[in-house]
Formats: sequence, structure tokens, C-alpha cells
Amino acid sequence: MVKLLFAPMATLSHEAMRLTIERYSPGAVDEYYTEMIHAASFLAGGKFEPYYVRTAPDLRRIVWQLTGGSEQPLAEAAKIISEIGGIGIDINMGCAAPEIVRQGAGVAWMLKPVAETCNMLKRVRAAVPGEKRLSVKMRLGGDDFTEKKLFDFADMLVGEGVSQIVIHPRTQKEKFKRVPHWEYAQKLAEYLKSRYGNSICICGNGDITDFPVLQRVCTKAPDLDGFMIGRAAVQKPWIFAQLKAGLESEEYHADIDLQELGIQLIEDLKISQPEEFWKTRAQRFFVYYCKNLTFGTYLSNKLINAKTLDEIKDLFCSYFEEQSEERFLVV
Ligand SMILES: Cc1cc2nc3c(=O)[nH]c(=O)nc-3n(C[C@H](O)[C@H](O)[C@H](O)COP(=O)(O)O)c2cc1C
Repeated sequence: MVKLLFAPMATLSHEAMRLTIERYSPGAVDEYYTEMIHAASFLAGGKFEPYYVRTAPDLRRIVWQLTGGSEQPLAEAAKIISEIGGIGIDINMGCAAPEIVRQGAGVAWMLKPVAETCNMLKRVRAAVPGEKRLSVKMRLGGDDFTEKKLFDFADMLVGEGVSQIVIHPRTQKEKFKRVPHWEYAQKLAEYLKSRYGNSICICGNGDITDFPVLQRVCTKAPDLDGFMIGRAAVQKPWIFAQLKAGLESEEYHADIDLQELGIQLIEDLKISQPEEFWKTRAQRFFVYYCKNLTFGTYLSNKLINAKTLDEIKDLFCSYFEEQSEERFLVV
């Protein structure tokens, strides 16, 4: 059975979002990646850092994603965070945001001299207890990427103790543009299977929005061991239940109370996030969630201008007073 993973997304993959997904897709997510945790900031012990390492709904399914441009903070943070528990540590080698790449983090790890990346992984692997997994989330590479470079890079990862790779099959420059190149995800999966059998887990990520899309991706890349879902899970926290049912050839039906889900998310934010984050995190969530509504863009623009979390909640609820027929979504 293929695995289903919730993607690491800064400002979105926090505890409140995970609780919501678990409520609407109970037991369907095999691994919850956290939003990226900036290793140096974590070590500096800022006031918000404890919120990045909260563990609900199930510590046994948490993967801690770290970001940083140099080996020492990554190794030190990996040691401390892996002691909390969870499946293991993931290194972000996929983020193409210019401010991250400038720090030498994210996809920059695929572009710098390979010895540097090798050394970083060695130190992180040595810092993390043997039973904890080391994984990497990456892209195809830079814009000069070739199949050979990708395979060599993957060999290096395996050589340094990485046992799960999530590939978002786009290049650095493609960011979210163009369709993912699933043919390269498949080639990489075939290559890794031919060299290492099933000891390396290789998963794919990018633009999976429902079961028919997942089926098409499975046809293009049949050797992938799992799939990671990001933005569509924020819009539709029930998507994992839907995908799991589809993969098991079972029917899936649900009557989703869209208002209740949004209010619960807000209440969970109050428990699991610092007050300074409440408004912005709610706004980020509703940008995606409002796509379920006919006048969602209009509502989400209103929410972006709200001054407080209470105002967000009131505006959100008043939408359903006017559009009461949209409150329940049959899926
Ligand atoms: C708002 C946002 C924040 C993201 N933050 C991270 C991150 O912290 N670490 C990471 O590896 N990828 C990050 N990503 C990339 C996602 O994990 C994922 O690769 C991308 O959204 C494609 O998957 P999707 O089409 O299912 O959303 C982020 C994406 C978005 C939209």
C-alpha cells in the first residue's frame, strides 16, 4: 500500500492544521511533516520556537523538517529535536524561495559543491539516534539538471544514510509553474529500486488535488512508494480519507460542515499557536480553504484585511448567514 504524507509548508503545517486533518481524515495520514524549523533560530531559543515542535495529533507520525544553510546548527537542532520522538528528521532541499536559497538552504543544498552537502548529512546522521530516520525533500535540481546529476545526488544521499526521499519533480526555477515532471520521479524511483531494492522509500509530491489526479500520477510513476499532499490538504482536510478510500477501492462519502471545520481550526489555533501568530496563520489557512466557496475570493480578501482573529471568525460565519446553502458540502 502506498503511503500518504502531509507536506511541510511554512505557516500552514502547524499543529492546528494537523489536528484538523486528523479530525477529517482519521488515521489516513501516514506521516505529518512539520513546517520547516529554522535550525539556527531554534537553537537560539526564541520565544516562538517551542510552538514549532508541538506534537499533536500523534507524535509517532511526526517528521520534523529542518532548514538551514550550514551543517553545525542543522546537526545540533536535529539532535535536540529527534529526542522529542517522532519518525525522524527531514532536511529541506526543495524550497526555492530566494530568501532561503540565499542562506544556502533549501534547494541550495542540491546546487553547492556536493562535498558540502555530504558533510552536512554526515553530521546530521551522526547526531540523530540510529533508530530515527533521516529523510530529504528535494526538487529535480537546478535548471541545468540532468538525469545523471539527479541519480548521482540520490546515490550520495543514500550513502550518507538517507532512507526516504520525497521528490517534487520541478526544477529550482519552475517553483510551482508547469506540470510536475512525473517521468523523472518514475526514473528516479526505478533507479533507486534497481540499486537498493525496497530499502529506500521514494515518494512524489506536486499538484495532487484529488483521487483521479492521484490515479493519473500512479500511472505515470508506478514505482513511487507514497505521495505527499500540501495545498490541497489545506483546502480539503478530508482529502487523505478520500485518497485512502480510493486506493483501497472503497467508496467515500461525507457531509462536511464547512463552517464548523473553519471554527474548529480557529479554536485549535488559539491552543496550539502563540497569540502573535493567530491572525496571520488563520488568514493563510483561509486563502486555501475559501476555495471551497463560490464567493471564496471575495471572502478571503475580506479576511486578509481583518484586524483580529475574532473579526476573522465573525466575517467567516456571516458568509454562511448569506450563503446558507453552501454550509454543507457533500463529497
Ligand atoms: C505556503 C507554502 C509553504 C511551503 N513551505 C515549505 C517548507 O517549509 N518546506 C518544504 O520543504 N516545502 C515547502 N513548501 C512546498 C510544499 O511542501 C510542496 O512541495 C508544494 O506545495 C507542492 O505540493 P502541493 O502541490 O501538494 O502543494 C511550501 C509550499 C507552500 C505553498
